[in-house]
Amino acid sequence: AAGLVAGAAGGVGISAALSGDDTAAGTGSGGSPALTTVGSTAVMFHGKHQAGITTPLQSRGHLIAFDLAPGAGRKEAAALLRRWSATAKALMSGKAPAEDTGIALDAGPSSLTVTFGFGRTFFDRTGLTSRRPAELDPLPAFSADALDPRRSEGDLWVQIGADDALVAFHALRAVQKDAGDAARVRWQMNGFNRSAGATAKPMTARNLMGQVDGTGNPKPTDPDFDRRIFVPAGGGQEWMAGGSYAVVRRIRMLLDDWEKLPLDRQEKVIGRRKSDGAPLTGGSETTELDLDKLGPDGKPVIPDNAHSRISAPEQNGGAAMLRRPFSFHDGIGPDGTPDAGLLFVCWQADPLRGFVPVQRKLDRGDALSAFIRHEASGLFAVPGGPTEGEYVGQRLLE
Ligand code: HEM
Repeated sequence: AAGLVAGAAGGVGISAALSGDDTAAGTGSGGSPALTTVGSTAVMFHGKHQAGITTPLQSRGHLIAFDLAPGAGRKEAAALLRRWSATAKALMSGKAPAEDTGIALDAGPSSLTVTFGFGRTFFDRTGLTSRRPAELDPLPAFSADALDPRRSEGDLWVQIGADDALVAFHALRAVQKDAGDAARVRWQMNGFNRSAGATAKPMTARNLMGQVDGTGNPKPTDPDFDRRIFVPAGGGQEWMAGGSYAVVRRIRMLLDDWEKLPLDRQEKVIGRRKSDGAPLTGGSETTELDLDKLGPDGKPVIPDNAHSRISAPEQNGGAAMLRRPFSFHDGIGPDGTPDAGLLFVCWQADPLRGFVPVQRKLDRGDALSAFIRHEASGLFAVPGGPTEGEYVGQRLLE
């Protein structure tokens, strides 16, 4: 979804940067209001859904998974979610938590979101096995998987996003400190997206392969958006009402191989133009793909193995998900290739009507497969948003 991914604050910052007014950011009043907009934007902690799902993509992201410590059970987990919720609420409104590290001093909330989820293993450890949703059944194994179990799954998962790197790191430290003796870090990953203000107008994000990525996303204005992305009330798992299931995949991009591919072949891999994301069958970014159109050679213009053909909802019985990823770059490996790619995070009301059928088909014949490797995986139940006075997950844990 172009509007969703591009960021409400897109385009800000430019006028302040050009005006040379260096007081605006510090004072928050007078001067150019543009520069302060990135910092002063706050996302609501309370609501029907947790923040960080339909929130516009932020420029920084941290994903962190925890396992409950030996001996910690439901009581400790409830106390932890209460601490985390209080911290998230304070930080998201720009307030410092108790015993603050000072990392984000001077900065506004910068669109910070902190989103909490439960993994499959959480339910056995807390004596809540009978309330574990079937949606958390393990994802099937895919033939191209090269998953590292130490960087996969986890009892608890937290997604942090912010439009400032220090604000995001500050929240990460606070979440880790709050875990105390109750939970231990299992894995942690860092990601990024384009900064608000870097493009002249809000645009769909690009990934590290240079593709416009996010165009086909369901949009909150679609009549079936809620049904596809959020768990309805009255479905048997009331604590998940308004919640969503997050599939997380660390997908390495084999960028050296990809970049050797000529532009026309790169475009055939996806079925869209690299310059503006428009389908190879013509039009602009938002024009529908014409999957039946044949070229002068009698072959489909959008090849049979093109990523956007295989993943299109109409090819998958309507299966759809909201993709909300971060790019990652963890340095250059000993062989000289970048350890870079996509922290693919997608949201759906049911993974069996979202990620699973699509990934099954991609696994069998996606032209992109030669250039990517799925290295880690997680599936998390992300409960609905807390009401005023409630903590995240309270309806499950009390
Ligand atoms: C579409 C890139 C992995 C599902 C796209 C598009 C690009 C892209 C460039 C076209 C623009 C758009 O609609 O957003 C990538 C890259 C991946 C990756 C670089 C890995 C590094 C995945 C995975 C899934 C997936 C793992 C799910 C299993 C989809 C879907 C669409 C899409 C559902 C939209 C199709 C439509 O609505 O027509 N992807 N993708 N992608 N991708 Fe991926």
